[in-house]
Amino acid sequence: MEKPKVVLGVSGGIAAYKACELLRRLTESGHDVRVVPTEASLHFVGAATWSALSGNPVSTEVWDSVHEVPHVRIGQHADLVVVAPATADMLAKAAHGLADDLLTNTLLTARCPVLFAPAMHTEMWEHPATQENVATLRRRGAVVLEPAVGRLTGVDTGKGRFPDPVEIFETCRLVLRRHSLGRSVTEPDLTGRHVVISAGGTREPLDPVRYLGNRSSGKQGYALVRTALARGARVTLIEANTGFTDPAGADVVHIGTAAQLREAVLKAAEDADVVVMAAAVADFRPETYAAGKIKKQDGQEPAPLTLVRNPDILAEVAGAGSGARLRPGQVVVGFAAETDDVLANGRKKLRRKGCDLLVVNEVGEHKTFGSEENEAVVLAADGAETPVPYGPKETLAEVVWDLVVPRLG
Ligand code: C5P
Repeated sequence: MEKPKVVLGVSGGIAAYKACELLRRLTESGHDVRVVPTEASLHFVGAATWSALSGNPVSTEVWDSVHEVPHVRIGQHADLVVVAPATADMLAKAAHGLADDLLTNTLLTARCPVLFAPAMHTEMWEHPATQENVATLRRRGAVVLEPAVGRLTGVDTGKGRFPDPVEIFETCRLVLRRHSLGRSVTEPDLTGRHVVISAGGTREPLDPVRYLGNRSSGKQGYALVRTALARGARVTLIEANTGFTDPAGADVVHIGTAAQLREAVLKAAEDADVVVMAAAVADFRPETYAAGKIKKQDGQEPAPLTLVRNPDILAEVAGAGSGARLRPGQVVVGFAAETDDVLANGRKKLRRKGCDLLVVNEVGEHKTFGSEENEAVVLAADGAETPVPYGPKETLAEVVWDLVVPRLG
């Protein structure tokens, strides 16, 4: 089988050096990568590095090997173009259709999915000119990842950091996966949509060193985040105790307890089209928090633990009880991990929580938690039931989005 052809466009930012790791991941996972740097980017990483790592010739301009018409052929034959890092200048050129070097020509001739991983200083990212260019590119079907927040080139920090290259690779892989399955990837169906996803498991502290927790790894939530990004969504991830690297392109809020999760979800949900509660939220928390470590007393039984209920965030967002959504038209998705009577309990829970979709799966000590695979039935409020056979958590995530999209207003 022919290797998928990927064009790695590199524009002139210091993050170009991190794109070497992205290139390695792509080549080592069986992609034929053609690196097309801009002239300016060669100040940061030279053509020799790109050529050695990709095993392909490298050129910045259209005047090399003219008989092969590279300015047209490279884009035409690509299965994916990923521009990483994408500078403010590159986003502007792409949005306006300029074609003054090999990379910009390639962007005009490519008919495959195009993914931009911007990296720049916060001011440049936030400038209305850049934001309008990003909106234009997204409207045309490109996937433009939100930059990460963190340390920038100098001592300053803010939004604009190049996302983790391994995570950018994951998004590339998912876009190519959809492409290979014959799904439309040049018109991502979550473009322009804001989705909020909670992932992981809350921890309810007893004292400074102990907590009540659960076994949720967060892998299903991360699969939902990555697949949503690959389908063009703006994603806010509310992360609870997973320990995972932030996915490339999502706005991430790190929280610990159910109370913090509630606050973060309600805030992010204010302008969200979809809320997916994949996190395992503690139903109860210790009534009191001991400011100092609870000591064992010789010869004495431990003091009984009194628990109080946590608010049900999913039910609140879905408007269970009142029947009115916090935000009208918002699609709300819940998860239900059950150990017995899985489907019957799931159906009852769907009604009780008032959500549009409920992903029900069976869990046990060695089932689902922490594994790469999942098996579930997605129950819908209109009575539809979609079984998803045992397979990668990404497959289940794609089915969830397939069911969400037609329910969006
Ligand atoms: O009731 P149960 O915990 O089984 O419900 C699971 C679903 O409800 C999940 O989607 C979970 O994120 C959500 N949940 C919540 N707030 C709680 C408990 C669960 O949002 N306090």
